[in-house]
Amino acid sequence: MERVKKKMLGSPAMVLLFLGFAVLLMVPEVSAKRWLVGDGKFWNPNVNYTVWARDKHFYIDDWLFFVYDRNQMNVLEVNKTNYENCIAEHPIHNWTTGAGRDVVPLNVTRHYYFISGNGFCYGGMKLAVRVEKLPPPPKAAPEKAGAPSLSSRGAILLMPVVFAIGAAWDAFIYSR
Ligand SMILES: *[C@@H]1O[C@H](CO)[C@@H](O)[C@H](O)[C@H]1NC(C)=O
Ligand SMILES: *[C@@H]1O[C@H](CO)[C@@H](O)[C@H](O)[C@H]1NC(C)=O
Ligand SMILES: *[C@@H]1O[C@H](CO)[C@@H](O)[C@H](O)[C@H]1NC(C)=O
Ligand SMILES: *[C@@H]1O[C@H](CO)[C@@H](O)[C@H](O)[C@H]1NC(C)=O
Repeated sequence: MERVKKKMLGSPAMVLLFLGFAVLLMVPEVSAKRWLVGDGKFWNPNVNYTVWARDKHFYIDDWLFFVYDRNQMNVLEVNKTNYENCIAEHPIHNWTTGAGRDVVPLNVTRHYYFISGNGFCYGGMKLAVRVEKLPPPPKAAPEKAGAPSLSSRGAILLMPVVFAIGAAWDAFIYSR
């Protein structure tokens, strides 16, 4: 059993398969990122979403994913004034679907402002993000290299995967 497993892992076909998976995993990252708002704290009171958004870059066609208690909070897109003053009446867009799981496409380069109604905005449930154009691909003379050009975001993600596979491969070779 152990012998069979080792043989399969060592075959070139298996390595190609792993690389194939790495490329598959990378592809969605090239075009868009889905941000889980608040990460593990989700969309809740007593989270500072200014701090959460501060060091992040939101690019066009990324998504915001709001996860929250559907019986209490909601997701309302408002203008800057109403964001600052926590005014939930007449929102620009009500993204609340009722499931407590709402996805907002950031498909325009501009500022977006979100608050929760029902008074939760006053408890800190307000998020402002600035959506940027995708950064230009890295300047490192792609024509000269002749290598297939990847967007920088995809390449950054792929590198650790390649290294991990390489390391696993080495470990396998030397453990025999
Ligand atoms: C924001 O929206 C409110 C209506 O909800 C409106 O009265 C106000 O003028 C708007 N402010 C700006 C800066 O557009
Ligand atoms: C937003 O939409 C949801 C679902 O359609 C609805 O239940 C809710 O009353 C709306 N909230 C506001 C503030 O418009
Ligand atoms: C952005 O997405 C919204 C909601 O899906 C849609 O109504 C709007 O037409 C889109 N705008 C552009 C510029 O694609
Ligand atoms: C969130 O943190 C920022 C920066 O530390 C601060 O200026 C802001 O007042 C905080 N917001 C809330 C609602 O506590």
